[in-house]
Amino acid sequence: MLEPALLPTPLVDCTDEVFARAGVELRLKRDDLLHPSVPGNKWRKLAPNLAAAVEGGHRRLLTFGGAYSTHLRAVAAAAAALGLESVGLVRGEELAGRPRNWSLAAAERAGMRLEFLTRAEYREATGRAETDAEAGDGGPWRRWEPCLVLPEGGSNALAVTGAAAIPAELPGLGGRDVVCCPVGTGGTLAGIAAALPPGARALGVAVLRGGEGYLEAEVARLHRAAYGREFANWRIEHGHHGGGYGRVPAELAAFAAGFEQRHGVPVELRYVAKLLAALAGLTAAGAFPRGTRLTAVVTGLPDPV
Ligand SMILES: Cc1ncc(COP(=O)(O)O)c(C=O)c1O
Repeated sequence: MLEPALLPTPLVDCTDEVFARAGVELRLKRDDLLHPSVPGNKWRKLAPNLAAAVEGGHRRLLTFGGAYSTHLRAVAAAAAALGLESVGLVRGEELAGRPRNWSLAAAERAGMRLEFLTRAEYREATGRAETDAEAGDGGPWRRWEPCLVLPEGGSNALAVTGAAAIPAELPGLGGRDVVCCPVGTGGTLAGIAAALPPGARALGVAVLRGGEGYLEAEVARLHRAAYGREFANWRIEHGHHGGGYGRVPAELAAFAAGFEQRHGVPVELRYVAKLLAALAGLTAAGAFPRGTRLTAVVTGLPDPV
């Protein structure tokens, strides 16, 4: 069985000089402590999908990811715990003949079957799955049917409702609050924004380069899919991706190490470090009025390797 989740996750005040100087409060929502093998936003987004899979009588989950995908490992662990089969379609056919890296090896150890796709096949498959496809529509996953297809990164309408549980664990939100998270596919931000009370706002920090317009459209699409409407209480910062997805410039790594040392919080580099560095940079530049309370959602754990 899956170990129990730590819910609600801890909410801790974080006193840091940059923020204090600007009269801005910073709190950390420690979703990284949520679960050891399905951490942070992976749990938030997967929980409602897994409940629906079990309820719908599905026996097999199929999803997508890159060579070091946390999502693939999380789906493998959660599916195994629920007695479901899992299949991972992996980007990069060249990986098929190589020794498994630690991440794919962990997914396989949990029972996930891996199939390696060319980049073109992968693009086609993930594109089709984005529209919340149900198995049976003849997608590139045909040979694995019947299966429940979860999109890349796990962001679908149900996932958004899972992330909407985060603000429900933040009592007393109001006009001075900004709830902040990193943005990969936009599912976590969409859920947070949808569940905020009037006056509070959500801020996403894009971790990839060139997402302007595209990521906003994704969040709006997910809002329509989950709630049948759009929301106007959120925005995405695009200037803090550090050069692109997975890029961690030395300055960012140094910031993360300093933060970790000062606050004793392990800082995941691809998402969480970019979020925290963006908040520090924006605060130092005067982007938030005095009295603002920022809640940074620590959405994941550093890689175990
Ligand atoms: C640690 C972490 N934070 C944030 C995200 C981005 O979340 P989303 O894809 O919902 O925008 C991811 C990727 O899913 C992640 O692994």
